[in-house]
Amino acid sequence: MVIIIENIRMPDITKLATKTGEFVGEFVDARDRKGNTIPVFQYGEDTIPAIRGNPKEQLPQLKKMEARDDDIVLCAAVKAGTHWLWEIITMLLKGTTEYAAGPKEDAMLEFRPIEELNALPSPRILNTHLRLSNLPEQFIEKKCKFVFVMRNPKDTAVSMYHHFSAEGSAFAYRGSFSDFLSMFMSGVVPHNNWTDYITGWEKDLAMNPDIPYHIIHYENLKQDPVREIKTLASYLDVTCTDDFVDDVVEKCSFRNLKKGKTATPENQRWHFMYRKGEVGDWKNWFTVAENEEFDSYLSKEMNESKFSFRYTL
Ligand code: A3P
Repeated sequence: MVIIIENIRMPDITKLATKTGEFVGEFVDARDRKGNTIPVFQYGEDTIPAIRGNPKEQLPQLKKMEARDDDIVLCAAVKAGTHWLWEIITMLLKGTTEYAAGPKEDAMLEFRPIEELNALPSPRILNTHLRLSNLPEQFIEKKCKFVFVMRNPKDTAVSMYHHFSAEGSAFAYRGSFSDFLSMFMSGVVPHNNWTDYITGWEKDLAMNPDIPYHIIHYENLKQDPVREIKTLASYLDVTCTDDFVDDVVEKCSFRNLKKGKTATPENQRWHFMYRKGEVGDWKNWFTVAENEEFDSYLSKEMNESKFSFRYTL
C-alpha cells in the first residue's frame, strides 16, 4: 500500500495499523518462547522499546520535524555498530579527534524530544533504528545524506541479547541466549525484527532513488578501517589528510572508544554499549542446531534481498 506525496513514495502507515482510521499505535509485549517479555510500542512499521522517552507523543511529531540541509541521518538495525560510526562521523565533520561531549543517544530520533533535537548544533548527526515511514518527511525533500551500518545478523543477535540482559540495561531481559533467539526470529522484536528492517529499507530505498545513501558493513570497518573511513569521508564531502584518518581510526578503536566514552562517573553507565567489538562472536553462542535453524530462517526471509551479508564470518 503506497501513497505519493510530491513524488515521494511512502508506505501509508496510517493505514497499516489502524482499524478505526485514527492512527495511534499500541503497546504490546515482545515475547520469547519461555514467556519472558520486553514492552514495546508498535507504530506503523516500527516496534520501539517502551523503556524510555514517550514514543506515543514523540513519533507523530517526528514526522513533521524540520530537517536541515546538512543533517546526516545514521540508520542501522540495533547493535550494528551505531555508536562507533556516530563517533567517526562526528570526528570527520568537526575535523577533530576529540570524542563528542555527549552520547549518541542525545541525537537519537525515536527517544529524544523534538525541542532537544531542534536545539542540537549543526551539523547534526542524527541516528535511528526507525524505518523511513516514521522519519521526518523533510529528510527526503532536503536530500539529507543517509549512512547505513549493517552487520552480520548472528553477531547482531548476540550483541542484542547482551544489551537487553546487561546489568543496568533498561530492557531487563532475563531469558537465556537460546530463549532470546526465539524472540529475534519472531514478528515482534524491540527496535524491529532484523529481516523486516533490512528488507524494508531495501524496498524504501528502491522506491526513493533520490535518497543519497552510503552503506558501511561492520565487518569491513573492522577489517580495513582506513579504507572504509576514507570512502565515508569522500561520501560526506569531507577532505582530510591520511594522518587525520589514522588518528580517527586510533581514537575509535574498540579499546580507546570504550575508555573514552565510559571513563567518567556520569558516562560509566554506557559501558554495555561497548561489550566485545569483534566479528564472529556468534560462534561462541549458537549451537550447531541453532545455527542451522537460523540459516534456514535467513535464507527464507532474505531470499529476495540484494544486500550482501557475510553470514558465515
Ligand atoms: P558487541 O556486543 O558484539 O561487542 P550499537 O552501537 O549499534 O549499539 O552496536 C554495539 C556493538 O558495536 C557492540 O557489539 C559494541 O561492542 C560494538 N562496538 C562499539 N564500538 C566499537 C568499536 N569501536 N569497534 C568495534 N565494535 C564496536
